[in-house]
This record gives sequence, C-alpha cells and structure tokens, in this order.
Amino acid sequence: MAESVIDIQVKKTTSSKLNQVDWENLPFGRVFSDHMLVMDYKDGKWHTPEVLPFGDLQLHPATSAIHYGQSIFEGLKAYRNENGEVVIFRPDMNAKRFRASCQRMCMADVPEELFLQCVQKIVAIDKEWIPKKKGYSLYIRPFLFATDDYIGIKPSDSYKFMIFTCPVGAYYSEPLSVKIEEKFTRAVEGGVGRAKTAGNYAASLYPAKLGKEEGFHQLVWTDAKEHKYIEESGTMNIMFVIDGKLITPSETSDTILPGITKRSVVELAQSWGMTVEERKVTVEEIIDSAKSGKLSEAFGAGTAATIAPINSIGFRGEMYNLPSVETREFSNKVHAHLDAIKAGTVEDEFNWITKVSL
Ligand code: PLP
Ligand code: COI
Repeated sequence: MAESVIDIQVKKTTSSKLNQVDWENLPFGRVFSDHMLVMDYKDGKWHTPEVLPFGDLQLHPATSAIHYGQSIFEGLKAYRNENGEVVIFRPDMNAKRFRASCQRMCMADVPEELFLQCVQKIVAIDKEWIPKKKGYSLYIRPFLFATDDYIGIKPSDSYKFMIFTCPVGAYYSEPLSVKIEEKFTRAVEGGVGRAKTAGNYAASLYPAKLGKEEGFHQLVWTDAKEHKYIEESGTMNIMFVIDGKLITPSETSDTILPGITKRSVVELAQSWGMTVEERKVTVEEIIDSAKSGKLSEAFGAGTAATIAPINSIGFRGEMYNLPSVETREFSNKVHAHLDAIKAGTVEDEFNWITKVSL
C-alpha cells in the first residue's frame, strides 16, 4: 500500500497493558490493545485523525446514534506472518463495504483510502498486540456513529469514526449446532440486512437467545416472506457441500451481508476447479440432502468465525447430524489454505494480503 499521505496525530500511552495479557487464553473481544483511533466529521468534513490511549468516551445523552441507531461497523484481522511482517487480509473489501453501509444508513462517507490508512496506522502502533499463537490474530474493529446531540429524526450532521483492536482467539471453540429459524426474521428485502449496522445484531439477540435455550449455538436465518430460503447465520455466511458442489445463498437480494470470507472461499474453490453455485438455496434442499447423506459439509464463513464447521442442523424439532469434521475435505482444505495465505507460507496469488508499513 502507498505510504501514508494523511496526517494522523499520535499521542501514545504512558502505561501499556501489554504485560497484563494472558496470551495463552485469549477470549474473543474482551481484551483491548493500548490505543484507539478517533476521527470526527463536523462542518461537512473529516478532521485530522488522532491515535489516543485506549479509554472511555464522553457522550452527550442525546447522542443520536444511541437513540436512532445510525451506527455501522467493520471487522477485519491482522496477522504476523512467517517472515515477521504484519499483514492484513483484504482490507480494501472492508473499506468498500463500510462505504456501502454508510450510504444505506445515510451517514458521512468515509473514503476508502482514508479508512485504509487509519486501519494501517492503528495496527502499526499496536503491532506488539498481535498474538503469536497459531489460530490467534489481532481483530480490528472500525466503526462510525452519529454524534449530533439532537432528538429530532434526521440524518446526523456530525459523526465519530473510530478503530480499536483486540488480540483474539477463536470466536467459536467447537463445531456448531444450528437451528433453521422459521418464525423470526433478520432482514427483509428493502431493509438494511446488507449493511453492517448495529440494529441488525440487536434484532437477532432475542431469537438467538431462544435458540440457545433449546441448545443451539446459532440460528440460520431464512427469508422473511416464506421462510423457505436459507440466508445466513448470526455472525457468518453459510456454505454447503452437496454432491461435491459448493453451494451458498447468492447475495443478489439485499438481505444478506456480502461476506469477505465467503467471497474468498468461493474464489479459491473456483480456482481449484470446483463447481460453485451461488443461488437461492431452499431449506427443503438442505434437509433432503442431509437425510440422503449428500450433504457432506456445512460451515459458516466469517472474519471472527473463520471457517466454522456445523455438525448438526435442527429443523422443526428434528436434528440432522452431519459427517464428522475430520472427513470434511473441502472445508479443512480451504481453512488451511486461507491460514497459509495469511501466514505467507503459500503464494498470495489473488493479492489478498496488505503488508503494513511499520
Ligand atoms: N454475516 C454477518 C451477519 C456477519 O456479521 C459477518 C461478519 O462479519 C459475516 C456474515 C461474514 O462477513 P466477513 O466474512 O466479511 O467477516
Ligand atoms: C466479524 O466477523 O467481524 C463480525 O462482525 C462478527 C461479529 C459480530 C463479532
């Protein structure tokens, strides 16, 4: 990536928390690195981004994001590769998706280059926070929220863009049991399902809680109209291997988050000569192929979730168990290959890796 051309002010912490971290047992999302980046949008323009010691924010009680939900976020990861370089996986895709979310939520646009340079800067500053343990990484959380102190309904005139990072382990520590949800809905056509906006996650909490009470880790959402088509899961896109073909719900409707992990899996599978079908996927097809044994693999794909094997699917009170994780040729191969690209042990043939200048 180009050298930083954007002026970013830096105020470093005087009391690092690095030596308080239990690097062997990192939970997801509870440990925060030393710094955060803050950039304000006011008077129609972005002001100079600042890197500050990680800390609390002071907010006006009428801050409009809290009341009306103009709030979006991204999730991406940084790794230290085998050569000791710091790399980020496909940040350009996050920058693009962030802009698409800004547009749908009627928020101030964050230009891609600005987003990317801010991400690079915070990672470079907190590079010592990248875990060394295999399977661990530095999760990067850029977010944007409306900051007008006004309780009328209108798009805010002011916004805060921030990034913090968390050294993380696995989001899911075991293969998943999922339930196909037929009552509640994550997203409707014409709604905001395609945007990575806070309310989508809030809306999913209650149905997910009911699912957990029944023993499921996650729900699989279906379309809002008929509950006939599979869409995605709570924190990840969903993919299946049926009869040797990779099948995943297409993103042509605006109800599914266009996932970067899923896109990468599709592109790798195609490059390996596998048949990939991105299309409408019916619940019936999945249940029938689970019954007949043709459904050899099911997995979630996401930045936090990585490649998360699904070992059982619940539908209308029945459980459908899938072949054991060790037998899953494709998902194990694609997971290992994605890890190897990030570690720099195989060629990055699609140019997915951005090296951070330190
Ligand atoms: N779907 C939802 C609802 C998500 O929150 C995520 C996570 O970001 C994904 C899918 C997967 O997207 P990505 O692979 O870009 O992380
Ligand atoms: C991610 O994978 O980045 C996500 O956004 C999932 C999450 C909500 C932790």
